Amino acid sequence: MTGTAPQHTRPQETRETEGVDGGVGLTALLVAAARAIETHRDDSLAQDVHAEHFVRAAPACADWPVRIEQVPDGDGNPLWGRFARYFGLRTRVLDDFLLGAVRTGARQVVLLGAGLDTRAYRLEWPSGCVVYEIDRDGVLAFKHRVLAELSATARAARVPVPVDLRGDWVTALTGAGFDPAAPTAWLAEGLLFYLPAPAETYLVDTVDRLSARGSALAFEAKLEKDLLDYRDSAIYTATRQQIGIDLLQLFDKGPRPDSAGRLAATGWSTATHTPFDFTRRHGRGPLPEPNDALEGNRWVFAHRTRE
Ligand SMILES: C[S@@+](CC[C@H](N)C(=O)[O-])C[C@H]1O[C@@H](n2cnc3c(N)ncnc32)[C@H](O)[C@@H]1O
Repeated sequence: MTGTAPQHTRPQETRETEGVDGGVGLTALLVAAARAIETHRDDSLAQDVHAEHFVRAAPACADWPVRIEQVPDGDGNPLWGRFARYFGLRTRVLDDFLLGAVRTGARQVVLLGAGLDTRAYRLEWPSGCVVYEIDRDGVLAFKHRVLAELSATARAARVPVPVDLRGDWVTALTGAGFDPAAPTAWLAEGLLFYLPAPAETYLVDTVDRLSARGSALAFEAKLEKDLLDYRDSAIYTATRQQIGIDLLQLFDKGPRPDSAGRLAATGWSTATHTPFDFTRRHGRGPLPEPNDALEGNRWVFAHRTRE
């Protein structure tokens, strides 16, 4: 299947920032803070020792907590309690997904909208593994600076690919050395709902086109028909009021494509789960609640078993 690159949308300087100090880039710091909190929990689901350093290095969030003990209402806080635990669970589940994909032969990993993901540094990769990190230049430059100051050492060959995923990102990825003939583990974690629908469709079609047999893709989707129905949910309200991030403003509001269906139609096997499935599996994480902004969240795992 082929996809046509969506018209490149040039970010407007007045509305968008390229780095982590505002706009969608700031959401990368939100997830980093959540991972820092998760790391310091006695029953943590995932460990990321670098996460708190990103939070401390960015003026935009210098006063955010990096341990649950720094939050006055602790786990009762919808943002730093329940939502952060959601990100901790998501990190663990997608760590396991990627490690499963390399166990079955993939040696290329592509993190789409990588943000401050430090999997290249955290996980035990087999030798010969290459991790491509796609995000916007400002986000990757901040990440590089913080990790360089920590003298962090990657456990795989790490290749940053600074490019906007609303345009033609394939040229940048293949130009960075990506080999479409080799199986790949792809990840779009916390990304697709920020993209316009044509960019999501282009992304899925492109992953399909560049995936040799043995490739795998995991992505996160939101199924709600109208995201604004959850405007008053505890999570969105706390995120807006406590740290000034209005997620609903950042999410694309248009109808979402059926990306899992699109992959299934081209011969991928797909499995769709709620996050709550994994809360039950791991014995910790968020469970459903009334007016729940997480209600429509789905984690989709797709495998290409034939050409
Ligand atoms: C919520 S963060 C998630 C980051 C990372 N995947 C994680 O889970 O830690 C969303 C990321 O998507 C990136 N992103 C959003 N829109 C993008 C675009 N059009 N092109 C490239 N990256 C984009 C942002 O810069 C940000 O780093």
